[in-house]
Amino acid sequence: MILDYNDLISTQTFTILGILTAFYFFQRFASFVWLYYLRPPSLHKFLHGKEPYALITGASDGIGRAVAKELYERGFNLILHGRNETKLKAAIDQIHASGKGPKRDIRFFLASADAADVDFTKIVEQFKDLRITLVINNVGGGRLRAQRIDAFSGEDLLGDIRVNALFSFDLTHALLPQLRAAGGPVEVVFVGSQSADIAIPRLSTYAASKSFLYQLTRCLNADETYGSPSQVRFTYWNVGTVITNSLREKPSLFYPLAADFAKNLMGIIGCGREKVTPYAPHAMQQLLVGLLPKSILLHHATKTIQRIIDETEKRTD
Ligand SMILES: NC(=O)c1ccc[n+]([C@@H]2O[C@H](COP(=O)([O-])OP(=O)(O)OC[C@H]3O[C@@H](n4cnc5c(N)ncnc54)[C@H](OP(=O)(O)O)[C@@H]3O)[C@@H](O)[C@H]2O)c1
Repeated sequence: MILDYNDLISTQTFTILGILTAFYFFQRFASFVWLYYLRPPSLHKFLHGKEPYALITGASDGIGRAVAKELYERGFNLILHGRNETKLKAAIDQIHASGKGPKRDIRFFLASADAADVDFTKIVEQFKDLRITLVINNVGGGRLRAQRIDAFSGEDLLGDIRVNALFSFDLTHALLPQLRAAGGPVEVVFVGSQSADIAIPRLSTYAASKSFLYQLTRCLNADETYGSPSQVRFTYWNVGTVITNSLREKPSLFYPLAADFAKNLMGIIGCGREKVTPYAPHAMQQLLVGLLPKSILLHHATKTIQRIIDETEKRTD
């Protein structure tokens, strides 16, 4: 059969498109396998100097407490943040008790992350002589609101934004000079959420705050590399559902317990990606979700939110 010129162009175009598409998917697959299964861990990069410290906010429970425990076991001294002294001290005792090898230092500070009057300069001042090489800005939480935002006061809504964005921003602002002086690589993590990537009803202040953290990550990286580069880098963790005391679902592959989630993400710290999903099954979930039409996503999100609101109302009755 003889092909005319147009047939030839379209055959070539489709072949090239096919090759490019195959290359794109192969590259994504290879990058996935490398990140989660082949890449050598790089946490030790942040164990430099005599006594390196990791600072973790929201460390009295959930992901923060689990991450603190893992970091302590891997050689970090800790500075932990919480709002309830008894609860935070109990978490510290637990970390000390579970740690193998030599005892390391664990310090703490208390602050309500939703308060307008937190003195960040004073907080940072008490740790000014410590070498902080890792900061996990973990404090946060999605307060699901049964009504739209105009049913609440601006101050109330601002509380959500403080807990999920401004506390991390202000702490980073106060800490930066000290982090730059650490004398080696420093990583600052902002704990984000998958909910910032999709539109979920009744969760606007939370999701928007997490989006703020992502853009902050990108811009601060640009800041630290522009001019005379520093060794401080920022990364945003795109977190999916994790079972904690504040989110009691049935554990499964896609719903890991905080302890398992924290163990997994030790291999991700220092990977150099600006936005990373720290748990492989959540990354698979995101890939699939990304293929769904928006209308199906919104329908599913709405049903899930309604179920959670109903369950919460039943519990508080
Ligand atoms: N779990 C998930 O499915 C999930 C999904 C996506 C993203 N994330 C993100 O992961 C991070 C940790 O979540 P989590 O599930 O581990 O939460 P969690 O179990 O509720 O623990 C939150 C921690 O933050 C502290 N905290 C909360 N509000 C505070 C406030 N106003 N002032 C001071 N401390 C406060 C809590 O202190 P108390 O112990 O005193 O309550 C606790 O230490 C959050 O940033 C969250 O947005 C979680």
